[in-house]
Amino acid sequence: MSHNNTLNGKTFSGFYKLSRAERLQKLEDNFDLNSEGLKLLESGGALPFDLSDLFVENSVGSFPMPFGIVTNILMDGQEHIAPFAVEESSVIAASSNACKWIKESGGFKTQDHGGMMIGQVQLLDVEPSKMEDLKALILENKSMIVSFCNDIHPRLVERGGGTRDLQVKSFPDAESPFIVIHLLMDTCEAMGANLINTTCEKVAPLIQTITGARIGLQILSNFASEKLYTTTCKVKTSLLSEKGMNNGDEIAQRIIEAYQFAKYDPHRAATHNKGIMNGIDPVIIATGNDWRANEAGIHAFACKEGRYQSLSTWKILEDGDLEGSLTVPMQLGTVGGITRLHPMAKFSLSLLNNPTSNQLALIAISTGLASNLAALRALVTTGIQAGHMKLHAKNIALAAGARGKRIDTVADTMIRENTISQSAAENILQKLISSDNSSQTATL
Ligand code: HMG
Repeated sequence: MSHNNTLNGKTFSGFYKLSRAERLQKLEDNFDLNSEGLKLLESGGALPFDLSDLFVENSVGSFPMPFGIVTNILMDGQEHIAPFAVEESSVIAASSNACKWIKESGGFKTQDHGGMMIGQVQLLDVEPSKMEDLKALILENKSMIVSFCNDIHPRLVERGGGTRDLQVKSFPDAESPFIVIHLLMDTCEAMGANLINTTCEKVAPLIQTITGARIGLQILSNFASEKLYTTTCKVKTSLLSEKGMNNGDEIAQRIIEAYQFAKYDPHRAATHNKGIMNGIDPVIIATGNDWRANEAGIHAFACKEGRYQSLSTWKILEDGDLEGSLTVPMQLGTVGGITRLHPMAKFSLSLLNNPTSNQLALIAISTGLASNLAALRALVTTGIQAGHMKLHAKNIALAAGARGKRIDTVADTMIRENTISQSAAENILQKLISSDNSSQTATL
């Protein structure tokens, strides 16, 4: 059966209460799922060794991660769900939770700033007195250099991409002064690392001939400062109220205070931004993209004003609603790398309705902003442990030695008794084992 993959009018509310079979059925009912990925998922999700052996060196197997679904994403009038590959409890629940408030308040509004990736070619042995002349010389030859770059990748140009512009930066105060040329490239649906690196390496001899300078590094920049995306959301403060109370306005005000903490204190900003990455990295990983590149670029962007600070901004609007906004650089592909080779990456893209790389970036940053909101709301109300530890309780039970049905029993007992710790889990487990042993003895 073919689906148009639109969730409008359908709800994934309560998805977490379904059994695994019901969850998979719901996905199959609503999406044209990649069948190879679905088969792999159903068989446990471990990458076949022949693929693992192709992807990395010295492979001995694969490392499966938990794979779940974030629900309730309403973005620019379209409903989505997002695949999350993540090891941490409560991350998926938190993002889904805040996506629900945001959906009920009108959804995310996004903007793709239409940017370019950057390739860098470094020029060394440049005399500081000649720097300005050299910069002018490079700029005089800009169209020749750009056109040379485009000849390197004719198929990229056919697809509508290519090298668009060139900029020059100088570092006269460095121990050995140097110049850097930035090649601004539209890599279309690819993240573009290989395209950019090839361009940088192939154009370097031409640049050397033009400038006479010694060529240094030729490599992309993962600080994709020219490839920015924004997501914004409004939230009705009544939705933030604690259960049974009408204190949403006060909670919104406390969220603003928490944001100010992250805006001014880098130590808080790192944790605040980790909360944002809770919603971005799992989408990057699930779609087979390079999360290290994105992490590097996003944290570099957090220092754009000369000091590490909050990536998101939060304010209260005149009508009393809370508004959050997140602008970050993203470098994602829907082709290239392992995006079309890893069955689970293909499966994730099919769950996302096979988006363009720009749409994928906008969904990832939206779940990132939602994750930030859920964490802030928890921090200014119950504290993070209440919700997080409730969901982490099963891991603690597992670590304490519980297996099978005893995992749920130990976790539920800890939650009921409001003591969630390894020692509490060990005590409860011990009591369960003793009681099971005595009932066995009694039946003998
Ligand atoms: P709750 O109010 O008990 O949730 O919150 P609820 O039962 O009212 O359900 C509301 C919605 O939440 C549900 O809607 C689900 O979408 C979702 P529905 O489907 O019913 O229409 N939800 C769940 N989804 C999947 N599985 C579940 C589940 N439960 C609810 N089991 C919740 C409970 C944990 C969501 C809440 O307390 C919360 O959002 N806490 C924040 C937790 C968090 O941020 N965890 C990340 C780890 S901590 C961290 O890494 C970052 C941090 O340091 C960042 C920072 O400092 O800024 C905190």
